[in-house]
Amino acid sequence: MTAKYQLIQKDREQEGIDLDVIQPVVGPPAVDVTRLYRDQGLLTYDPGFMSTASCQSSITYIDGEAGVLEYRGYPIEQLAKEADYLEVVFLLLYGELPNRTQLHEFDDIITHHTMLNERLKEFFGGFHYDAHPMAIMVGVVGSLSAFYHDSLDINSPRHREISAHRLIAKIPTIAAASYKHNVGEPIVYPDNELSYCGNLLHMMFATPCEPYHPNPIAVEAMNLLFILHADHEQNASTSTVRLAGSSLANPFACIAAGIASLWGPAHGGANEAVLEMLTEIGDVSNIDKYIAKAKDKNDPFRLMGFGHRVYKNYDPRANILREMCKKVLTELADNNNPLFELALKLEEIALEDEYFVKRKLYPNVDFYSGIIYRALNIPNNMFTVMFAIARTVGWVSHWMEMMSDPLQRIGRPRQVYTGPPRRDFVSLNRRS
Ligand code: SDX
Repeated sequence: MTAKYQLIQKDREQEGIDLDVIQPVVGPPAVDVTRLYRDQGLLTYDPGFMSTASCQSSITYIDGEAGVLEYRGYPIEQLAKEADYLEVVFLLLYGELPNRTQLHEFDDIITHHTMLNERLKEFFGGFHYDAHPMAIMVGVVGSLSAFYHDSLDINSPRHREISAHRLIAKIPTIAAASYKHNVGEPIVYPDNELSYCGNLLHMMFATPCEPYHPNPIAVEAMNLLFILHADHEQNASTSTVRLAGSSLANPFACIAAGIASLWGPAHGGANEAVLEMLTEIGDVSNIDKYIAKAKDKNDPFRLMGFGHRVYKNYDPRANILREMCKKVLTELADNNNPLFELALKLEEIALEDEYFVKRKLYPNVDFYSGIIYRALNIPNNMFTVMFAIARTVGWVSHWMEMMSDPLQRIGRPRQVYTGPPRRDFVSLNRRS
């Protein structure tokens, strides 16, 4: 359907131009400005992409005002309650929930891609012992194209699928090896008898010295965390993957770019920053001081884990995680976890404060996830690594969607130039 928008150009003699409107299945319509520059010599200006749709996608839908998140049409609350993470991976990749046979076959494929090329193990040894695991992840994932030459024809749907399977399967193994490098323990190989989440815990916490059996509550919590973090439409890291992929870069390089973008504290790095913030606040008596700092425009401090570009109501994932927090702390950790009590009190006070209410700043997915990871004995510097593991399927699904579009072209934004007008070169001896 194409409705017409009149774009009146007051400083031009034309009356106006007609622009097509693209109607979505659900959500806001989009004015198609694809030909605006070619036909009218005009650019649109939208730093931070507050009002810009970069693509059409059928993977995830978010309604920020209503606090809605759906993967391929399925509400996140139902997936969180009913699904196994690998079912959600299949759903995001292929668009439908798998039947029993499909799930069994998919689980087998992913399981048999979890090992790394043995030469890759030496790569970890090249990092300083206290390298941040995200730095290791960026380096090692980016290097995978140096090992898997047999599936790099990005014009081949089958090669794209093999690379997708390899990335989803190997990212936990790389993550666990990054952790083992940090703690100075030997890398643990995958155990094909374990689930995706159980295997990650096994590779992180097993040692050659004694048997290790992942705690079922810990596996359940990881499964939920991974489902909630699996995709989130055109967030910064997914947009990074799409832009990198638009140049026809190989999928391993694109996912490494996504990991680098996720690392920022304004994005996936926020979960680590939340725990550092709660630790710095330390006690309920200090909350007012830090709320004041968060509101002070001259203070760079922000309430980490609060606010979201799209959710101007509750982040539905935060709601779900708060309940899992209580369960994990009750079952696995000391129930009176001071950080969780502090987080609950901070949330309560902030949500009564005019500054946060007026700006619609609510807890986001990162506010509670770190407390759960901490209760699972996962160190702060591994929190964003956990996010990257879960989000790999989202990144890969968007890359596959983009690469299967025959009309796909390189992403190349324009700019509004604000530098000096044209001027002639001044030779060195004439400069003052
Ligand atoms: C994720 O995009 C996604 O989907 C991301 C994600 C995903 O799944 O991929 O959901 C995951 O990244 C969640 C967000 C995690 N980041 C944080 O928790 C960091 C703290 N939050 C902020 O940095 C901020 O809220 C952002 C980055 C999340 C959103 O930034 P926006 O949309 O650009 O909002 P803004 O910076 O323009 O803020 C609007 C106003 C400003 O005040 P005014 O200029 O209007 O006076 O709200 C203020 C901001 O100063 N504000 C905050 C705040 N967040 C926004 N003030 C204090 N503390 C905060 N956390």
